[in-house]
Amino acid sequence: MNEVPVRVVPRAGSGGAAAPGRRLQLQVLRHNPRDAASVPHWQSYELEEAEGMTLFIALGEIREKLDPSLQFDFVCRAGICGSCAMVIDGKPGLACRTLTRDHGSRITLAPLPFFELIGDLSVDTGKWMRSMSERLRGWLHLKQAAPDIDRIEQPMDPELAERIYELDRCIECGCCVAGCGTARMREDFVGAVGLGRVARFRLDPRDARSDEDWYAVVGDDDGVFGCMSLLACHDLCPKDLPLATQIAYLRRAMARQGLK
Ligand code: SF4
Ligand code: F3S
Ligand code: FES
Repeated sequence: MNEVPVRVVPRAGSGGAAAPGRRLQLQVLRHNPRDAASVPHWQSYELEEAEGMTLFIALGEIREKLDPSLQFDFVCRAGICGSCAMVIDGKPGLACRTLTRDHGSRITLAPLPFFELIGDLSVDTGKWMRSMSERLRGWLHLKQAAPDIDRIEQPMDPELAERIYELDRCIECGCCVAGCGTARMREDFVGAVGLGRVARFRLDPRDARSDEDWYAVVGDDDGVFGCMSLLACHDLCPKDLPLATQIAYLRRAMARQGLK
């Protein structure tokens, strides 16, 4: 274990009163898999909490002022891109949407498990998401052979459009996969994100695929029958997607197919 306490000096004139007297200690699990000499270890950083501080702000200050080698990902800072997911005090979540005041003064941060580690808190969720999407062919398969724009933009019942939109809000952050016990045991499990994708296209009246087609894709233990209803995906999804309900609908439909 390599404990390296460091201190962040609050930014002069940064505005916003600091929360009274709280000193934060961020314990970060560090490792560089591309460096043969690197050994996973916890590194400790100390800083003063500012009002409205998120983990994004805290990590940014550490990297900017103390340790430029610390690796983590942020793009949108607004819960939209999904790139800042990490394990925060033992639970997957988005660092940019996590306020330090909602945690104790000692916060542990680790990279999402399951995905390929790039370094420290940065993982490659994109590679896994792309391969899952290719496997499910997770895009619209229009019913007619030659797609034309009028067919794509046909009117849709607003209630149905709303249900599809709800599932389209997935930001592919990976929290549902990182928190899922099945995903830990079955490396080919498509995860709640994959099952949610199937649910989305099953709802879409423009999509050509039947339940028979979907059964061939997710009617096994790497698909919907591998899910053990652990529901961590539902609890951890930062976009509050209705994953439990959608997985239950899908399981029922695929079970019906299996009995045919
Ligand atoms: Fe993230 Fe939720 Fe999408 Fe899973 S379903 S990848 S937790 S947004
Ligand atoms: Fe995993 Fe969610 Fe099923 S946590 S086991 S995909 S209900
Ligand atoms: Fe985009 Fe956090 S930085 S979701």
